[in-house]
Amino acid sequence: MAKILRVENLSKTYENGSKKLVILDKINFDIEEGETFAIVGPSGSGKTTLLGLSAGLDRIDDGTVDLCGQNLSELDEDGRAELRNRHVGFVFQNFQLIPTLTALENVAVPLELRGDSSAENEATALLEKVGLQDRMHHYPTQLSGGEQQRVALARAFCNKPKILFADEPTGNLDEATGKNVVDLLLSLNKDLGTTLVIVTHDLELAKKTQRILKLRGGKVQKLQNQQ
Ligand SMILES: Nc1ncnc2c1ncn2[C@@H]1O[C@H](COP(=O)(O)OP(=O)(O)O)[C@@H](O)[C@H]1O
Ligand SMILES: [Mg+2]
Repeated sequence: MAKILRVENLSKTYENGSKKLVILDKINFDIEEGETFAIVGPSGSGKTTLLGLSAGLDRIDDGTVDLCGQNLSELDEDGRAELRNRHVGFVFQNFQLIPTLTALENVAVPLELRGDSSAENEATALLEKVGLQDRMHHYPTQLSGGEQQRVALARAFCNKPKILFADEPTGNLDEATGKNVVDLLLSLNKDLGTTLVIVTHDLELAKKTQRILKLRGGKVQKLQNQQ
């Protein structure tokens, strides 16, 4: 199986005056195409930082990340943006929908920006897939948290990403709604083969993935196979 993500000796430090803060300390792991992978750990353990570096959102200064066959250190900001547009999807804890656009528009706009003439049809199909066929023309404020997160999921899948990074996708949802969102993520993985990398502090969610990486104080405490 091909590796879609390889992280080698990845470190991150912040200078705070004369003090050096080590946020990530020589992290190593690989993820295979189609795999479901969770990153867990206490607040402040470096999960979001690790996700941002792995997904090409932030610049790497120590170590290597290979994403979709590209060494991220060899790409500039624009190169990373292009790689993300082509292959990578994101879901954030706070949904990040555009408030002035309807659910349908939130999903269709990224497709339109890519020059996709069937954007609206594709967006409609994606919203149906996440069970929002009756909410297409609602604005984010007219949707519940769970519905907003499902719109964000539909949007994340609009470029048919090879790999989807989700940072605490259920963090702002109640337990039952969170469970629905997770089941939806896993079903999209199954149907479309999208690799999932999910940051969560919810161990129940993490248990549903194939492997769990436990971070503690910026180090890998444990890499656990669940199958
Ligand atoms: N821009 C920054 N400057 C300095 N410290 C930061 C910065 N971003 C994050 N940190 C620190 O890095 C650590 C890890 O943060 P983060 O990756 O957000 O952890 P988690 O997502 O696991 O809660 C925290 O101690 C945080 O304060
Ligand atoms: Mg975080």
